[in-house]
Order: sequence, then C-alpha cells, then structure tokens
Amino acid sequence: MLVPVTDMLQNALKGHYAVGQFNTNNLEWTKAILLAAEEKKSPVIVGVSEGAAKYMGGYKTVAALVENLAEELNITVPVALHLDHGSYDGALKAIDAGFSSVMFDGSHYDIAENIARTREMVRITREKGLSVEAEVGSIGGEEDGVVGTGEIASPDECAAIAELGVTILAAGIGNIHGKYPANWKGLDFDALAAIRAVTGEIPLVLHGGTGIPEDMIKQAILLGVSKINVNTECQLSFAAATREYIEQGRDQQGKGFDPRNLLKPGFLAIKATVEEKIDLFGSANKA
Ligand code: 13P
Repeated sequence: MLVPVTDMLQNALKGHYAVGQFNTNNLEWTKAILLAAEEKKSPVIVGVSEGAAKYMGGYKTVAALVENLAEELNITVPVALHLDHGSYDGALKAIDAGFSSVMFDGSHYDIAENIARTREMVRITREKGLSVEAEVGSIGGEEDGVVGTGEIASPDECAAIAELGVTILAAGIGNIHGKYPANWKGLDFDALAAIRAVTGEIPLVLHGGTGIPEDMIKQAILLGVSKINVNTECQLSFAAATREYIEQGRDQQGKGFDPRNLLKPGFLAIKATVEEKIDLFGSANKA
C-alpha cells in the first residue's frame, strides 16, 4: 500500500535524518529504488515528474506499477508515490490516479496566487488523507522542462505557505537541479536557518540532491531538512554502467542483447546509488 509522506517525514525530523525521494523513469528504476530501500530497511519516496509520468504512459500506469511492484516484490518498508513539481492540474490527475502524495509547485506564480492555489491543494489532499509539498523561491536549473532561476526563498513567504497546513515545504536555498557548476557558491545555510526559525515544525525539502557535498547534506539535515530529492545522480550512474557494458561489447556476446541482461548493469548502478544515499541521509533501519 502506498502511504503519504507525513509520518515518515515527521519521524525523520524528530530523528535528525532525511528520507530520500528518488525519481523514477521506468520499470528498472522503480525496482532498483524499492529493492534498495527494502535492503536498507528505509522508508522511501518514489518521485515522478510530470514529464516522467507522460513518458511512462500516464499517472495511472505509474501508480499501478509502483503499487503492484511493491506488493509483488514483498516490500515491507513504507513507500510513498509523490508527484514532483506538479502543476495544479497535474496534481489533481495524479491524485485521481492513486498517488499518495503530491507536490504542487506554485513557485512560478506571484506569492498571492501561490498561496491561493496551495491553500486549495491543502484542502483537497487533506480530504483524501494525502500529503502535499509546496514550494517557495525557485530551484535553479532545469528538470523535465521545469526551469527555475535559483531564487532564495523569503522567510516571510515560507511562513505564509507553511501556515496553510502543507505537509512539507521546499524552499530555494541556492540548490540547483542537475549537476552543480564549478563556481557554485554552495547552500545558503543562513537562509535555511532563517526559514527554519519561522516555519515551526514543518519538515523541509532539499531539491537538487545530486552532487551536494556530504558535509552540506549533513548540515542541511541538522537545520531541519527531512526530505532530499535525487534524480540526476541515478541517471548518471545508469548511463555510465550501460555505456561500459556496450563499450566492452557485452551486448554482442551470447544473449547480451536481451534487455534483461543489457539493462542489468544500469539497474544495479541505480540500486547502489540509492543505497549510498540512504546511508548518507541516515534513513537506514528507520522503517
Ligand atoms: P537532481 O536531479 O539534481 O538530483 O534533483 C532532483 C530533484 O530535485 C527532483 O525534484
């Protein structure tokens, strides 16, 4: 059964660790994420962007895939299926399809409209017992067509959104989707501390988890980050392992062309990346 992120992230906040959101793209990705979480006895959030949902055949396909895989693989750890950077309409569709959690990303609107739409999304998700993530300030870079300027969130605006009763809050603190440029200034911990000070007990979300140095991850968790999103790093490890397989000519040996063999190194690479992150975030044995 898919669960909302509410309990797992409240526990993470109290226990000073973070739960990873790992974005999926297909069957192999989903299996790798679920099996890694099970082996590590960690709660897990399977993230799906609108673009990935479209690629995978729509929200219903994704919801059925994740729910059925969790059952057939005998996954016992809590699994949430969360829409990543959802539009208002996308979030409604994901909810209808059976997602247990949605992000409504209203950061592209002015704050009044972000507040109005987020308030409505809180009402809808509450009625259905689901969790909802909101965003203030934007995450830099691009993910599946969602482009952000990397604006640092205003603590006042964060407080106004947190007060609406959202389950979790993503605030821009200099984080970026994709690889960090060599001249990246790092996370803005003063901004994070200021946001924490005015948002009460709400678990905070750190997007752009790929390539953030370990000490910054740990510091962010100490300052109230309870959910960390990772997408690009799994894509990079999948691509590198697949490239190696092909470059070694293994697809041309025996049944090496069979997708069950061809995609296996990539699958194992994603699983290893997820396990590494679970250890770093401190959520192993917390299920
Ligand atoms: P990365 O692709 O940088 O890991 O970011 C993932 C993310 O924030 C998903 O919303």
